[in-house]
Amino acid sequence: MCGITGFTGKQPALPFLLQGLSKLEYRGYDSAGVTLVNSKKLRTWKTKGRLSELEKVLSDDLDQSCGIGHTRWATHGVPSNMNAHPHMNRGNTISVVHNGIVENYAALKKELLDEGYEFHSDTDSEVIVQLLDYYYRKKPVMKEALMRTCRRLEGSYALCVTSVYEPNTIYVAKKESPMVLGQSAEGTFCASDAPAMLEYTKEIMPLQDGQFAILNKDSLEVFEADGRPAEKKWIHFPYDVQAAQKGGYDSFMLKEIHEQPGAIRETLRGRFRGTKVILPQIDKLNADWDSIRETWFIACGTAYHACIYASGLYQRYTGKPAFVMPASEFRYCDPAVGPHTLCIFVSQSGETADTLAALKLARAKGCLTIAVVNVLGSSIARQTDAVLYTAAGPEIAVASTKAYTTQLVLLHVLVLKLAELFGIKVKGISALIRDLKRLPDVIEETLQKEPVMKKCAKMLKDQRDAYFIGRQLDYPTALEGALKLKEISYVHADAYYAGELKHGPIALIEKNTVVLAMATQPEIAAKTISNIKETVARGARVILVTDEEMSAEEFKYVIRLPEICPSLRPVPAAVLTQLFAYYAAKEKGCDIDKPRNLAKSVTVE
Ligand code: M6R
Repeated sequence: MCGITGFTGKQPALPFLLQGLSKLEYRGYDSAGVTLVNSKKLRTWKTKGRLSELEKVLSDDLDQSCGIGHTRWATHGVPSNMNAHPHMNRGNTISVVHNGIVENYAALKKELLDEGYEFHSDTDSEVIVQLLDYYYRKKPVMKEALMRTCRRLEGSYALCVTSVYEPNTIYVAKKESPMVLGQSAEGTFCASDAPAMLEYTKEIMPLQDGQFAILNKDSLEVFEADGRPAEKKWIHFPYDVQAAQKGGYDSFMLKEIHEQPGAIRETLRGRFRGTKVILPQIDKLNADWDSIRETWFIACGTAYHACIYASGLYQRYTGKPAFVMPASEFRYCDPAVGPHTLCIFVSQSGETADTLAALKLARAKGCLTIAVVNVLGSSIARQTDAVLYTAAGPEIAVASTKAYTTQLVLLHVLVLKLAELFGIKVKGISALIRDLKRLPDVIEETLQKEPVMKKCAKMLKDQRDAYFIGRQLDYPTALEGALKLKEISYVHADAYYAGELKHGPIALIEKNTVVLAMATQPEIAAKTISNIKETVARGARVILVTDEEMSAEEFKYVIRLPEICPSLRPVPAAVLTQLFAYYAAKEKGCDIDKPRNLAKSVTVE
């Protein structure tokens, strides 16, 4: 969602602020702004639209060495110059940028209006700067004013404050919204996500919930909410700057699609010894595995689709009950979970607000929790009993690709591990492990089908709708394919269990309707094929994704997956749907990496 950068150092702040915000553009935004500080005044520029619009309005004399920047994704109030951050107090002496949602902003605003404060935006964020002003006037010590302000805020925040009172200092605070800190020879800085800093340092300190920090030219102090000094925990980010650049591809999404063989290889590295699954993080839990009665898989969006896949495998391998639910539902459904429940949370960013809230609920109910996360040191990673990292590297495009396939793979490994811990022998495990190791090559081979998917995507040129169908392990692929297409091409797409078509959705099938059908699971493929024929009989144009054996002469567009165990076919099949969505969006001239209304990491409810 919104992006934040802050810099104080020995050189002009603006280059860091702008390069950082541009690295965070992938998170989605609709307006941008910066404040630069000198000892007498704050100079703030903000505009609706892209960073390039902001750069146009920046005037000269921009060499101040302390400043904060922001890209906003509208929640309270439309995208506009007025609602863009930074927000200033009366007198223009304090400036604030904020990510998150101040849930009690209406009550705080009323209180401040009664005190004679004026508001100039529709945002919840503006109450923060006015509240800071209020406490600073009572006692002009910024650290105390910030602590008092944070104590009054309900909801989530990552915020940066700068002021004329301490013109070389930035105050930073965090609760349930990401914020990372860094330091180099150039100065001290902060950002809402690590890619904004990778050009300056790879040693990064994620601020923990409730903590705040004081950044000066050559010092960085971190405090707990009550003002006690906090321990500084640095993380080394192994990614190089190139990992967050397009590297010759015309979009991050296409680059990330092509990175999947390597990402899967890295995710699988060192996970097996013979047929034994090596996941020391899970062994260290020392859990009473026999007491686990059921397992829940919980996530949002694409990660939720990975959970559907994993829950199918889990039931198949362990014979134990599994439940799967979007985090936004789990957190409010009063789930029947407890100390006998294992909850598995899946997230690329590790910062998704709903998933984080669901995790907190599961912990409060005494469940054992495991996270499958991509971003090192993220909130979800830190708050579970055990964390497993996918090795997708930075995923910049809003539409998730390599994060999804690495989640499928790592969840598969985790489910095998759980079966092992439950003392269950999985049938055909040797062949399965052999094929898991072959998966990167299989994905390489699948990527050779790019020209075919490009041609198939042309079918959508004049279409407003598309349908994705599949059964069993093919169903999450259908859901994910439909989501991808909607997200980046804005073609309306729905996914159905193939067997459900005749119970309603088939009414929508007419001449030339595009149907992408997955029939990769041998025990059910013949049934799916019959369902597909029902759509062909009504004029649908079907693209069939199946294995090497399935007889499918009657279909015009048949895409055959390379030979691999059926339970792994959803991985190459997902790659085909990603290419399909990518080329459909390209055909329609869409902004593929930054689809409208979407944010990469949804850190608000
Ligand atoms: O970072 P997370 O994996 O927790 O994000 C969850 C969803 O917001 C995310 O997967 C979203 O659906 C993507 N835009 C899908 O491409």
